[in-house]
Amino acid sequence: MKKEENKMEELVSLCKRRGFIYQGSEIYGGLAGTWDYGHLGVALKNNIRALWWKRFVSDREDMYGVDASILMNQNVWKASGHVGGFSDPLVECKKCKKRFRADHLEDKKKCPECGGELGDEKQFNMMFKTHVGATEDETSISYLRPETAQGMFVNFKNVMDSFHPKLPFGLAQIGKAFRNEIAPRDFTFRSREFEQMEIEYFVRPTDWKEKFEHFRSQVLEFTKDVGLTQSKIHEHEIDPKDLAHYSKRTIDFEFDFPFGEKKELYGLAYRTDFDLSAHSAASGVDLAYFDEANKERFVPHCIEPSFGLDRTVLAVLSDAYSEDEMSGEGEKRVFMKFSPRVAPIKVAVFPLLKNKPNLVEKAREVFLNLKKVHGAGIMFDDNGNIGKRYRRQDEIGTPFCITVDFETVEKGTGVTVRDRDSGKQERIMIEELIPFLNGKMMI
Ligand code: GLY
Repeated sequence: MKKEENKMEELVSLCKRRGFIYQGSEIYGGLAGTWDYGHLGVALKNNIRALWWKRFVSDREDMYGVDASILMNQNVWKASGHVGGFSDPLVECKKCKKRFRADHLEDKKKCPECGGELGDEKQFNMMFKTHVGATEDETSISYLRPETAQGMFVNFKNVMDSFHPKLPFGLAQIGKAFRNEIAPRDFTFRSREFEQMEIEYFVRPTDWKEKFEHFRSQVLEFTKDVGLTQSKIHEHEIDPKDLAHYSKRTIDFEFDFPFGEKKELYGLAYRTDFDLSAHSAASGVDLAYFDEANKERFVPHCIEPSFGLDRTVLAVLSDAYSEDEMSGEGEKRVFMKFSPRVAPIKVAVFPLLKNKPNLVEKAREVFLNLKKVHGAGIMFDDNGNIGKRYRRQDEIGTPFCITVDFETVEKGTGVTVRDRDSGKQERIMIEELIPFLNGKMMI
């Protein structure tokens, strides 16, 4: 196995070469902290997003989906505390003018780039500010949301009025968030534009500990859904002095990324009634819950599991990156050991030879039948020789390759199905393919 930093370079290069992730605005020299997903990256991300929605929304009876606007009334961010306090400590080098996050520096006096003297530490608000409409004044200020969470708090009353849920219940949302990071880095890990998957789960104040524990285990279950190596996941209890302004307790779920020590993947916070109370006070709209059984009115407390979708994609990509010498197939290979549940392509279908019309016709038939059931996760490939096709599919993490050969069409003995990880092949009758793959894909 390569050294971790080499592995990161190889991964970034594979992601670009094979159409997972490209640098944002690349032909103009890029835009720091932005990344574009290609066809396979979109498929991987969609599969992860779908698993999250299934676990946290569709498979439950107590969750309500929300898809709120990215631009919100500036008063949302004043009430939430982001205008006043969503900042990172910034220092600027007096010589080269480069800016750094003070809390990421070992020596806060000396520039790590040019050795020049660093200036005084200032607070830098990380929200992207913009103006809505044609007039640029104080009243038209808006921000690109730095978390999806507030889109749920401000819709709390709408959801209550539409669905009349009983406590406990949650709102769930997947969407973009934006932070003007001082120093974006580590591939997509610290980006300025990213996607979050968040839940605001409302409880009676006395129930928060129980629900906090419930979501603690659900977060870990989700890491299994996407196939992450469990020994690379670590819980980190945040010291009370380092808690975000809205939190009374937070656990970070960290992952062993290849670019250094373990880094935050997910967070689980007990946000108390901070947000609903703040929005009630600022908007004048009553966001209390009325408990009919006990004839009692109170502001619910909130547990927030927060997931970075792009960070999950990066964790899955880095965890999947593998190299081995495959016996019987010659040279060293690179393969992505994705769980079949998240693999962008689940099955590739080949004719053994592309210049034999009877093989191609049968392979197309097998391909189209599988595509009817498994949709976008099925691919047809007849380029190059069979060994090259296996290499190409290994590199994008396709778990199964099906080959239609002479025996298939002449003797009716089925197709070969090759397993990505072991390289082993077995013969499966065509009519058995769908149940066989369904079993293997753990869907
Ligand atoms: N909503 C929590 C966060 O964005 O970190």
